[in-house]
Amino acid sequence: DVMREVLGLKDLEKKLKHTLHIEDVIVVAGDSDLSPWVKKEMGRACVACMKERLTDKNIVAVTGGTTLAAVAEMMTPDSKQSDVLFVPARGGLGEDVKNQANTICAKMAEKTMGNYRLLHVPDHLSNEAYQSLIEEPTVKEVLQLIKSSSMVIHGIGDAITMAERRKTPEEDMEKIKARYAVAEAFGYYFNQEGEVVHKVKTVGIQLEDLEHVQHVIAVAGGASKAKAIKAYMKQAPHSILITDEGAARALIRE
Ligand code: BG6
Repeated sequence: DVMREVLGLKDLEKKLKHTLHIEDVIVVAGDSDLSPWVKKEMGRACVACMKERLTDKNIVAVTGGTTLAAVAEMMTPDSKQSDVLFVPARGGLGEDVKNQANTICAKMAEKTMGNYRLLHVPDHLSNEAYQSLIEEPTVKEVLQLIKSSSMVIHGIGDAITMAERRKTPEEDMEKIKARYAVAEAFGYYFNQEGEVVHKVKTVGIQLEDLEHVQHVIAVAGGASKAKAIKAYMKQAPHSILITDEGAARALIRE
């Protein structure tokens, strides 16, 4: 902690809380746009934050993304919490396998010697197929578990970067641009006021469900994500933000 004081991280956290009007922020040193290891540092901070908040029985829902993959990488077993069940927060969102919530959730369970359940719901289903799939008992059961999570950990992305990475259909792409989306999180796209302007239709946690989740942790860093973080946090003042110096300095400068 003395080191964090010396590096000015404590001071950055204080300023960031004030700028973003949020209660809980952790800033790690560096800029993940420039140095890949900074994502792992955010991962380490996230793991510590989780361990402080987990009780004896927990369901932890996680999203995909490279940042969450780094969080998974940093996880270690915790003797106090033997009973953690990891679930993906939402169904397929068009990510590569290594960045998918299912993959990350299995990895977290493996690293912590916890349990996991997967959600097998493909993207772009017809309405009919979608309706019948969510009525399947195994899918229903996992959805039930997801809805009762006590903790959600998710990334925040730049809207256009995420829409392109997900190979978003042209029609949706146009909508995302026309409505000036700047931020993305778990398949929702937000404008700079933090209003939802588009959402990918899929099962699992919906934005309004987050209100009832005890602990919500957003992990996102890099100066390039400053706008996205600012917009997203406008509608999530009670979430814990774990970020890096790169994003924090850019946010304070704005
Ligand atoms: C997605 C999450 O998988 O990753 C989003 O569903 C998040 O919530 C995105 O915005 C961020 O990705 P990355 O690679 O920048 O961590």
